[in-house]
Amino acid sequence: MKSVFAASGFLISTLVLFVKGQETAKQFDTSLFDEFQEWNGEELSKTYCVACHLYPEPNLLPKESWPYVLNLMGLYFGFDDGRMLSSLPNEQARAELYDMNKYPDEPSISPFQWAAIRDFYESSEGSAEVPPPPIARNLVHFETSLIFGDSETPVTSMVKVLSDGAGFYLGDAGGNHLVKYDSFGNIEKMDSIPGAIVQLDVEDDVERATIIGRMPPSNFPTGLIVERKAGESAWRTLIDGLHRPVHSLSYDFDADGNREMVVNEFGHYSGSLSLFQMGEGESLVRQTLRAEPGSISLRILPSSDDVGRSQLLVLNAQARQDVTLYQYGESLSFESKTLLKKPPSYGYTQLHLVDLTGDGNKEFVTVNGDNADLPGPPLKAYHGIRIYRMDSGLELDEVAFLPVPGAFQAAFGDFRGTGRMDIAVVSFFPDSRRPEQGFVFFENKGNLLFDRQTIKEGALAPWMTIDSGDVDGDGDIDIVLGSGYVPGLPLTGDSRRLPAGMILRNKMIP
Ligand code: HEC
Repeated sequence: MKSVFAASGFLISTLVLFVKGQETAKQFDTSLFDEFQEWNGEELSKTYCVACHLYPEPNLLPKESWPYVLNLMGLYFGFDDGRMLSSLPNEQARAELYDMNKYPDEPSISPFQWAAIRDFYESSEGSAEVPPPPIARNLVHFETSLIFGDSETPVTSMVKVLSDGAGFYLGDAGGNHLVKYDSFGNIEKMDSIPGAIVQLDVEDDVERATIIGRMPPSNFPTGLIVERKAGESAWRTLIDGLHRPVHSLSYDFDADGNREMVVNEFGHYSGSLSLFQMGEGESLVRQTLRAEPGSISLRILPSSDDVGRSQLLVLNAQARQDVTLYQYGESLSFESKTLLKKPPSYGYTQLHLVDLTGDGNKEFVTVNGDNADLPGPPLKAYHGIRIYRMDSGLELDEVAFLPVPGAFQAAFGDFRGTGRMDIAVVSFFPDSRRPEQGFVFFENKGNLLFDRQTIKEGALAPWMTIDSGDVDGDGDIDIVLGSGYVPGLPLTGDSRRLPAGMILRNKMIP
């Protein structure tokens, strides 16, 4: 038994409050402290904090972040310590949450057990602060130009660079527009879209858009997948009623000549990963592959001797953060195998398959740095880019880690004509003392060694989205960034009028 009372005097008052606040508390009256002392918070946490995700070690977060996280997690055990639910102004929203059975009406463990778990985390040292080292602002390969939109506080939810000098698109989540820019960065046209766009695929003259619906977390199924012939304005709805879809992919798994569509409904409390058989009209058939929210990035792992047929790769965030392989069987059935698992504070955002070594095999590249769930938000030393190789036993070996606190999206390209792929990263939650690290460029030196550089313009906006491609058709690969203003987020850089985007024009071919 651990003497937790010594560790925090605060705890005793919390406990007394609990007991006063509970009608059922009378049963604890006689031996309050004995009952409490029976419990070991660490052991309890190892029993109860693994129901929904990997075990959260106390050193995952700085000490200051734990009270907030425990207020949030307490809801799942029926404790509303932070009055997070009871003070919700919207009664209907509150009732909906209870209806969804996300939170129990009555505590599922005793207040003493809960207090012991809280005390275990809150009296731990937490993670040590590791301020990111400075990065030289000497990136010389690009010339930057800012793009300003209609709004002073733009949210550019998507950047899509078109090939061969055809310019690029920015998704404007504030006004629900898809804005087409020419190769000089001038607006060519602006189309209304039914929600905030987060992905645009352009294939054989067809543009397909994934529309999250409303950006902020909610349970409203306002997301959709739409498509149109390139050049047309009107969209045709393929799937609607989706819970915050963030990524989709179309692929003919059963090789019958018709593509299926896989959709990540990142959602909030609701959400799932589903495969849709795309019939005409009413004959859309949904098959759920993962019945929980948080799926965020999708890739196809091409067939090889090791994997047999082409497989679906899924990056999952929220509670269970992992990379899962869906092995295709027969008749659109899949078997899942989790390749790697990370704790819930990881903040996964993207998975890429890129050949970074030039040996013809693609590496797995994960991006993690979403910190939107925590006030602060704290620096996490494990945020960044991780590079993995898959061995013949379908195991992933981590071969490199490039730390980038708050890393959000990455884009790739042989920007310097070396024959090697470099990595450009935007961080949406950089260290506020080093705001220029909102953009970090990793020069590929070979053998998975990278040199890091940045530019002072990295500090001009909270950069959220990125894509690469030949914007101006001069033969080298350029980069376009999109900014994301979120109310309440501390603004880095010039807060008077935020640019919607920035072009980094490659100077390799003048
Ligand atoms: C009923 C499911 C459930 C249980 C039980 C649960 N969690 Fe969580 N946890 C979640 C979900 C879901 C998230 C993702 C954030 C969100 O959407 O609320 C999460 C996220 C977290 C995070 C990440 C915070 C961040 O953004 O960095 C931490 C840390 C955490 N949980 C700790 C705990 C601890 C400690 C316990 C035990 C006291 C616990 N969880 C029990 C569902 C659960």
